[in-house]
Amino acid sequence: MANQQKHQNHGLNKTKVAVVMVPFPAQGHLNQLLHLSRLILAYNIPVHYACTATHNRQAMLRVHGWDPNSVSDIHFHDLKIPPFLTPSPNPNAPNKFPSHLQPLFNASLHLRDPMASLLHELSSKATRIIVINDSLMGSVVQDLVTIPNAESYTFHSISAFTLFFNLWEAMGKALELDPYSKIITKDLPILEGCLTTEFMNFIDSQVNFQKLSSGYLYNTCRVIEGAYMDLMEKIEGDKKHWAIGPFNPVRNIGSNKRHNCLEWLDKVSPNSVIYVSFGTTTAMEDEQIKELAIGLEKSEQKFIWVLRDADKGDVFINGELRKAEIPKGFEERVKGRGMVMKDWAPQLEILSHPSTGGFMSHCGWNSCMESITMGVPIAAWPMASDQPRNTVLITKLLKVGIVVKDWSRRNELVTSSTVEKAVKLLMASEEGDEIRKRTVDLGGAIGQSIEEGGVSRMELDSFITHITR
Ligand SMILES: *[C@@H]1O[C@H](CO)[C@@H](O)[C@H](O)[C@H]1NC(C)=O
Ligand SMILES: *[C@@H]1O[C@H](CO)[C@@H](O)[C@H](O)[C@H]1NC(C)=O
Repeated sequence: MANQQKHQNHGLNKTKVAVVMVPFPAQGHLNQLLHLSRLILAYNIPVHYACTATHNRQAMLRVHGWDPNSVSDIHFHDLKIPPFLTPSPNPNAPNKFPSHLQPLFNASLHLRDPMASLLHELSSKATRIIVINDSLMGSVVQDLVTIPNAESYTFHSISAFTLFFNLWEAMGKALELDPYSKIITKDLPILEGCLTTEFMNFIDSQVNFQKLSSGYLYNTCRVIEGAYMDLMEKIEGDKKHWAIGPFNPVRNIGSNKRHNCLEWLDKVSPNSVIYVSFGTTTAMEDEQIKELAIGLEKSEQKFIWVLRDADKGDVFINGELRKAEIPKGFEERVKGRGMVMKDWAPQLEILSHPSTGGFMSHCGWNSCMESITMGVPIAAWPMASDQPRNTVLITKLLKVGIVVKDWSRRNELVTSSTVEKAVKLLMASEEGDEIRKRTVDLGGAIGQSIEEGGVSRMELDSFITHITR
């Protein structure tokens, strides 16, 4: 495994424990458990990664920030599910939740039978199997109860902050909050527009398996979310909670093939480029794309803009690809100053580059963690899901970003002048510099937390000790 030291103190794993990752088949989830696989492998524990063939392939192809050859240590298991529909996203839908992926989500529940066989097989060869299942894959791993030497740990792919407040509201706000947390609740964006009813039903159908889980894992760090980890421990007191993030590598970011956008970043000055990307599930309407383009142009700042349509359920199926409308002559006019990328971008590499000084982001939890750990402040433009609440954590609590679009105005177009102002504020103002400095400091503290003796490292060690006991 390149770019990574093994944790020698644990030596060879005596107990022959095997870990099985059960990701939910959407990029933000696949990626986090793949990053976690790398962390667990460093303790010489075999790691299995079980999903559909397509989604295993997608996860591997898009690994970023570390050497993909090291993935050869992970045992991928391609499990079969029935064919499913893969409609295109609808960029004009008022609700930005990627509901076009629902047929895939539904179909993924058919992983239950092949998963049960796989778990049985693996359990016969190990003293214990540790299943780390995405919180949305509860029903898929339910047959674990028939395996005496198996345990399951639930991975929550969102921030402890968002998870806590979602649960707290669902529980009728029963827990009395301390005065500090109480202040936050008045800023909490409403859940309306975050999900679809169909997806809410899907979540309900998965979290009912709660009792089977032996503990919770989070891609977060107590340095940034200690208060919300404490609150999670309060409302789910019978469970163990481990904050073992960041899952993404923090140092020696890079892979074998260097993308040409990095060559360009090499040539420009430090902190001069804003990286603009809205993740893998956002489909923007033409009108909005146009406003964004004009805003970026008028800001006169340097940028890398990833302009892709949302993933389909199967990213390897070619279909009619939507041609996004950018204003005529735009790319010519911003030449040398701005880059539009229409394919997959090496996000961690871009964020870790010294020339990158800001990130305009939808605030998916992956992107938030990656950005903060790289010391890059965020211009927050939430689209759906956990993103509106993450925005509050990023901008109001951690103060490592600014708001581009407030959730209360979710149905409005973000105008070019709003984009221009936000970009200038983050990239070319004293206030922006202060925010950037704060982010760099916080990134440094998070980096420390995964070093020997740091909080996240201690929790990861404690999790490993627990599962290999
Ligand atoms: C997904 O499954 C639910 C529950 O079975 C069903 O009501 C819904 O129509 C399904 N949606 C799609 C898009 O397949
Ligand atoms: C998997 O995840 C869910 C969380 O939704 C959890 O309730 C469940 O206990 C976990 N494990 C099993 C075996 O279902």
